[in-house]
Amino acid sequence: MNQEYEPEATRRHASATESSQASRGWWDRNADDYQSEHGAFLGDDRFIWGPEGLDEERAGLLGPAEGLKGRRILEIGAGAAQCARWLAAQGARPVALDLSHRQLQHALRIGDGADGAAAGGAVDLVEADAGALPFRDGAFDMACSAYGAIPFVADPVRVLREVRRVLRPGGRFVFSVTHPIRWAFPDDPGPEGLSVAASYFDRTPYVEQDESGHAVYVEHHRTVGDRVRDVVAAGFRLVDLVEPEWPDENTQEWGGWSPLRGYLIPGTAIFVCVAE
Ligand SMILES: C[S@@+](CC[C@H](N)C(=O)[O-])C[C@H]1O[C@@H](n2cnc3c(N)ncnc32)[C@H](O)[C@@H]1O
Repeated sequence: MNQEYEPEATRRHASATESSQASRGWWDRNADDYQSEHGAFLGDDRFIWGPEGLDEERAGLLGPAEGLKGRRILEIGAGAAQCARWLAAQGARPVALDLSHRQLQHALRIGDGADGAAAGGAVDLVEADAGALPFRDGAFDMACSAYGAIPFVADPVRVLREVRRVLRPGGRFVFSVTHPIRWAFPDDPGPEGLSVAASYFDRTPYVEQDESGHAVYVEHHRTVGDRVRDVVAAGFRLVDLVEPEWPDENTQEWGGWSPLRGYLIPGTAIFVCVAE
């Protein structure tokens, strides 16, 4: 492939396999840039739910921090495992899973303290696709995901069913995704991003493809109703849907997320689910 080629952005069908392959390649190629651009905001051992900066320490969506002690917690699409490291520091026993080898190398770098002091507590790392979790049934007490895997997969019910399978009954699963309303607007942090430009109801995936037409980046859109039905179909009860407001102290932009847009429309949706 011509390295200079600028991928073409389009909306088209992308299968589960094509989406998974595109994600692995994109995150392996872009992990270094992602961590150098967002690592300071994420913090080496903080648990941030999204670009608004909502912090699990304050939000307590997994329950009170003292209830995490000794719990086996699976983080899906963990990236450099910042969230898992915060969980470990609370006394939990986290496993951080990601599809991207390069993202997990950053987890090792931060955890080993290769470029400074080691951050947070011990975290087990697993390289796997969230659609086929390599764990036995009921292996975990809780699961979580901050923008990990779910926005990028063609079959989110499959991932949710896998998470449900590896959780014990009554276990909590909390995950954040791009707020579905954002799909109706251009992905632009400025005024251009404030006018509706596409149908909210158009579920056609966003795809960037190379000159041969192979997907190199894929995101999948589900409406709020779709997400609720997916959660229920996978065997969860939805107990809350959190839409973090943009806090005054957060002045930074993250891609299409900005204070300008954040004050007007939600940017992140966090689903709080309990395994039935
Ligand atoms: C936006 S990043 C979020 C990472 C981390 N949670 C954070 O907040 O920085 C999305 C992560 O999901 C991972 N991912 C994408 N598709 C996946 C899949 N099918 N299975 C597991 N991980 C996946 C990517 O490799 C990437 O690390």
